[in-house]
Amino acid sequence: MIKEICKKYAPHKDNLIQILHEIQNADPQHYISNEAVDTVAEYLNIPANHIYGVLTFYTMYSTKPRGKNIIRLCESPPCYIKGSENILRKLKVLLGVNVGETTKDGLFTLELCACLGVCGNAPVMMINDDFYGDLTEEKVEEIIDKIREMR
Ligand code: FES
Repeated sequence: MIKEICKKYAPHKDNLIQILHEIQNADPQHYISNEAVDTVAEYLNIPANHIYGVLTFYTMYSTKPRGKNIIRLCESPPCYIKGSENILRKLKVLLGVNVGETTKDGLFTLELCACLGVCGNAPVMMINDDFYGDLTEEKVEEIIDKIREMR
């Protein structure tokens, strides 16, 4: 799968970000494995260390397996002022994990992020590609319950 993704792009280091993005999106555990790094390094003819540097620089990448649903709660000031701290506390209780951890059933990973660009709906979180705004503790519980039911 990794080789097929690489081949969609010219073997030029300018394509690194896009290749990594696609590999992570295609992985059921939303991460970039060491094996993937080696394959990309070989394809682009760049050192693996350079790729690890990129992976640690951008918070959107993970080198650890993550859950099926990645929750990113905004922790920037406008969301903080509107109570994102309470939302975080609620998420931790509902999921039984801390920030950066994945639930035992592999369903959720909890992460924090900077402004998602929809501050008018603060506090805001994303779950995978979907935005959820104007969050309250009750609303968060409903969202998590709904996703658990859909599994
Ligand atoms: S500060 Fe949270 S979305 Fe902008």
